[in-house]
Amino acid sequence: MKQKLIIANWKENPSSLEEANSLLKISGDFSRDGNSNSALQILHAVPYIFAGAIKILKPDSQIILQNISKHTGGSHTGEISVAQASKMGINMSIIGHSETRLSPDNPHGDEDKDVNIKIQNILSANMLVCLCIGEYDREVIDWKNFLKDQVSTALAGVQKENLDKIIFAYEPVWAIGEHAKRAATREEIVESIEYIKTILPSSEGKVLYGGSVDENNAKDILNLEVVDGLLIGRASSDVSKWGRLLNSLH
Ligand code: PGA
Repeated sequence: MKQKLIIANWKENPSSLEEANSLLKISGDFSRDGNSNSALQILHAVPYIFAGAIKILKPDSQIILQNISKHTGGSHTGEISVAQASKMGINMSIIGHSETRLSPDNPHGDEDKDVNIKIQNILSANMLVCLCIGEYDREVIDWKNFLKDQVSTALAGVQKENLDKIIFAYEPVWAIGEHAKRAATREEIVESIEYIKTILPSSEGKVLYGGSVDENNAKDILNLEVVDGLLIGRASSDVSKWGRLLNSLH
């Protein structure tokens, strides 16, 4: 059985380190007791402030970041560099999440070229990337061309031997977060991820699905052959929802 990956993207949650530890404990209990044949790996993309605290309290924790600076250090207030993350023992970051990309809601967000710089910086530190891609609107835009452009601009100049350090997450923007219209249907997920796999430069590329995944749809989506895992936002940072979601995967 191939191992699938779940990334819990906590976003700006939870509000205390105590709750963060409760969430990690739920995942840890599931990984130890409820995960037959270790078929699932669970990673947590946590706010910077918790990432530091968790790595100090439990240096072996596999914590990942939700974003990282495009700069390599210096006068950039509020930013965290690849070197700082790496020296804290953190070896992966999400890049290109729609909430950190340039948009009307986020005028200082990343343009495609910034996403590319961040990926190059992370790879040169031998770290891993979870690259988010996803169309804004499925009905109006040519979503296939949109995804193709996002992939090619993000990966420009990436060496072939580094491609296995990048995991992709298909996150249709209309299906994500508090303003989501709805989760993508299983048919839409299969159609999109099958298409994405045809445009990736490596046939080994792994693609997660993210957008309104919860305890009611997680298992069905995860069981789709073409889906290599899930990127879960809202349902991953609330102790009771997270517990119910993991239980639903039995
Ligand atoms: P959601 O977010 O699960 O809350 O829709 C997913 C994401 O933005 O990564």
